[in-house]
Amino acid sequence: MISSVTFFHNGKLKTIDFSSSSRVTPTTTVLNWLRSLPDFKGTKEGCAEGDCGACTVVLGELSNDGTLRYKSVDSCLVFLPMLHGKQLLTVESLKNEAGELHPVQQAMVDEHGSQCGYCTPGFVMSLFSLYKNQEHPTKEQIEDSLTGNLCRCTGYRPIVQAAATACIHRNQDEFAYHTSHIAHQLENISKTSIHIQTPLQTYIKPASLGEAITLKHQHPDAIVISGATDIALRVTKRHELLKEIIDVSDVPELKEYSENELSVSIGAGLSLNDIMQNTKLQFPALFEILSVFGSQQIRNLATLGGNLGTASPISDMLPVLMAYNANIVLEGINGRREISLDNFITGYRQTVRKPDELITAVIIPKIMNGAVVKSYKISKRRDLDISTVSAGFRLELNGNNEVTSIKLVYGGMAERTKRSETVEKFLLGKIWNRETVEQAMSFIDKEFTPISDARASAEYRRAVAKNLLMKFWSKTLYETVGRLVESKTNEDSERQ
Ligand SMILES: Cc1cc2nc3c(=O)[nH]c(=O)nc-3n(C[C@H](O)[C@H](O)[C@H](O)COP(=O)(O)OP(=O)(O)OC[C@H]3O[C@@H](n4cnc5c(N)ncnc54)[C@H](O)[C@@H]3O)c2cc1C
Ligand code: FES
Ligand code: FES
Repeated sequence: MISSVTFFHNGKLKTIDFSSSSRVTPTTTVLNWLRSLPDFKGTKEGCAEGDCGACTVVLGELSNDGTLRYKSVDSCLVFLPMLHGKQLLTVESLKNEAGELHPVQQAMVDEHGSQCGYCTPGFVMSLFSLYKNQEHPTKEQIEDSLTGNLCRCTGYRPIVQAAATACIHRNQDEFAYHTSHIAHQLENISKTSIHIQTPLQTYIKPASLGEAITLKHQHPDAIVISGATDIALRVTKRHELLKEIIDVSDVPELKEYSENELSVSIGAGLSLNDIMQNTKLQFPALFEILSVFGSQQIRNLATLGGNLGTASPISDMLPVLMAYNANIVLEGINGRREISLDNFITGYRQTVRKPDELITAVIIPKIMNGAVVKSYKISKRRDLDISTVSAGFRLELNGNNEVTSIKLVYGGMAERTKRSETVEKFLLGKIWNRETVEQAMSFIDKEFTPISDARASAEYRRAVAKNLLMKFWSKTLYETVGRLVESKTNEDSERQ
């Protein structure tokens, strides 16, 4: 066990020993640490809550095949110990030994992508991450990579143009030549667990699941962090002192992704961006909702375990995962249990998870019986916004267009993510047509009493919930008609 953290920064390995430093604590953010150094003030603070991207830096992480993967993150949400074993790249890291600008910086200059310049280092780092990960990115990929960066004066067109210009020749920068050297340096950093003890705080970073479970048993009140995109705001916005932290962000077992004939198992510690790559074809409704979840910087940090761990009534993951009939895996010192997500949430931010248990995985059954699953998120803007109302719907029909199974799950309509059981009961066995759906919509008023808040009025929420049901019907119309034609063709061929 070690008590310091080591990472690669500014061309060399840097070690921070918290016990001998009065300037930093285990919950000092990477942003604040950088800004405390004389030569690293390029990284800016705008909001300190993950919304503006002015603090964007890139982390280089060793992947299983020994190569480096680059991810943009908001440094205002990353605690210093989360850097252990990684490479930290800031805007100061980009120019080459001859002092020339990096291709993404040069493109920003050439395309006039900066005016006051406050947002520019953040944009440059998001573009650098795009440059390292995509050759010839599409307009959608460029826009997605910039979703987490705000600019108030230049306008986005020249920045998007700079991205397109720079990314024509991916990976032809100096970093491409130094990758193996850096990977070698990172490989040599100790992978054992970290235990940081300061007079006010305990920060433990276990290196295995067994260790994490034992720690949770020994410290049931400790705050678990995975991506910390939720918890970090308690430090940056509420200025809380987090006394005891168990950081599971480097537990390898929580990052596993596996599948068998019947289901897919997603580790609770996999980042949402990694989940997107894996599930696009198998679970398109999950992919859809992830594509409007936060921003690249948030999805590179945030995890499924963290999202379900918040038990938020506006969690974007719960409705869609419940519609996919997913199970959550909880593990503690007394063993492992797998329960339906339908039974996980018990009230406002309350779950059945015991204090000594960790969320370790989510298991999603594969769609076998032609069920249709769709997800919806209604928010004030498309990207980087919190849901006003969200939904995950699942439908199965027989050859007569009768509903044989239906699940309607709403977020933002109650104190917790909730199924509309009255509507489900009404629709079961009925013909799936516009008339029946219109009748069913009226039950939503009786089933939900949403609140009015800064985001929307209760009346608006009810109207949206009803309209989403109608939208679901219209979107499934093609599938329904397709199935009817198919079943009629089968009947005809049986008759012949
Ligand atoms: C700018 C911004 C945008 C956001 N956008 C969205 C959005 O579009 N949709 C949305 O739903 N949310 C959004 N969020 C909220 C948050 O990012 C998500 O809920 C995210 O999935 C949390 O994951 P995390 O790993 O960062 O959680 P953490 O902050 O690490 O943890 C969150 C909670 O889960 C618990 N926890 C974490 N891991 C485990 C585990 N393995 N076992 C038990 N408990 C655990 C923690 O103790 C904590 O209570 C946003 C947040 C920010 C700052
Ligand atoms: S300072 Fe705004 S995202 Fe970090
Ligand atoms: S250049 Fe001024 S905020 Fe973007």
